[in-house]
Amino acid sequence: MKAAIFQNRKSVRRFSATGVNETTLRQLIDFSEKLPFFHAPIKQQFIWINGKEWISETLSKFLLSYGKIISAPYMLAPFFESELAAPIEIGYQAEHIVLKATELELGTLWVSTEDGTNLIKEAIIAATKETKDSLPVKFLNKITGNIETIIKDMQLPAIVLLGYPSDKRLDRIINNAVRMESAGNSRKKLETILTTNRQDKLSDKLRKIFNLALLAPSQKNQQPWRIRMTNQGFDLGFLHERQLDFGIFLAHIKIALDDGNIQYRMEKIDEKMNDVEWSARIILS
Ligand SMILES: Cc1cc2nc3c(=O)[nH]c(=O)nc-3n(C[C@H](O)[C@H](O)[C@H](O)COP(=O)(O)O)c2cc1C
Repeated sequence: MKAAIFQNRKSVRRFSATGVNETTLRQLIDFSEKLPFFHAPIKQQFIWINGKEWISETLSKFLLSYGKIISAPYMLAPFFESELAAPIEIGYQAEHIVLKATELELGTLWVSTEDGTNLIKEAIIAATKETKDSLPVKFLNKITGNIETIIKDMQLPAIVLLGYPSDKRLDRIINNAVRMESAGNSRKKLETILTTNRQDKLSDKLRKIFNLALLAPSQKNQQPWRIRMTNQGFDLGFLHERQLDFGIFLAHIKIALDDGNIQYRMEKIDEKMNDVEWSARIILS
């Protein structure tokens, strides 16, 4: 994947009524089934759902202040078993999917579910039972076993919405306006993210990679990331317990390093210092 794709990814909140063709969708779902983990496998279950009305109805139950999301046709619900490092792995994998979707010209939006996890679980379970009350939804990937049992004890701090961005003029204007209003179009300067350690080790190539990676999305655009240069490469960390945002950033760093033909090894570290949780070490060779 080319890191230049980071520049095309922008959160979309107004989607088009046009569905995504079967081949494109299959490509994306197949891609999501073969993703590597950053450090170690976790127990997870991605659930892909198609159903504009169902998604809209489900989101409206808990995203009271977000009437801004219109007509999203697809939802990716990445469920996982509670483990300390699990949100990092989920952010890492799901952001790969977001970027692949961007490559396929789809629009995406990460949505934090916070108090909505149980509502989504209930809505999914109801939809599988096809009761009179459930709205039409199509499950796009194979889920082996009973969904109810699978997701009952799993976590879901965020979902990803996908679909073509609306090409209506007014929707495009609103999309951009919401992005501006939530300051989604601005990014912190690398100097704010980089600690003062060993800055002599920062080459122009790495500077370029970091600046590209900093286009990653994060909840409320907080960009809670830190980079620390080391003798052999650099370490990556995060603030405010934002493991999910960290996994997202890590996916961008990995794709940018690969695209830059840089030889490296990525390791998990676990070092809490002041407010920063240093969690990944990149050793350049
Ligand atoms: C984990 C996560 C949760 C998010 N939750 C929401 C949300 O609930 N509602 C929303 O409108 N945007 C949400 N966003 C989108 C961010 O606001 C957006 O990514 C950020 O402002 C940067 O803008 P950009 O994605 O257009 O570059 C979320 C992003 C992430 C990564």
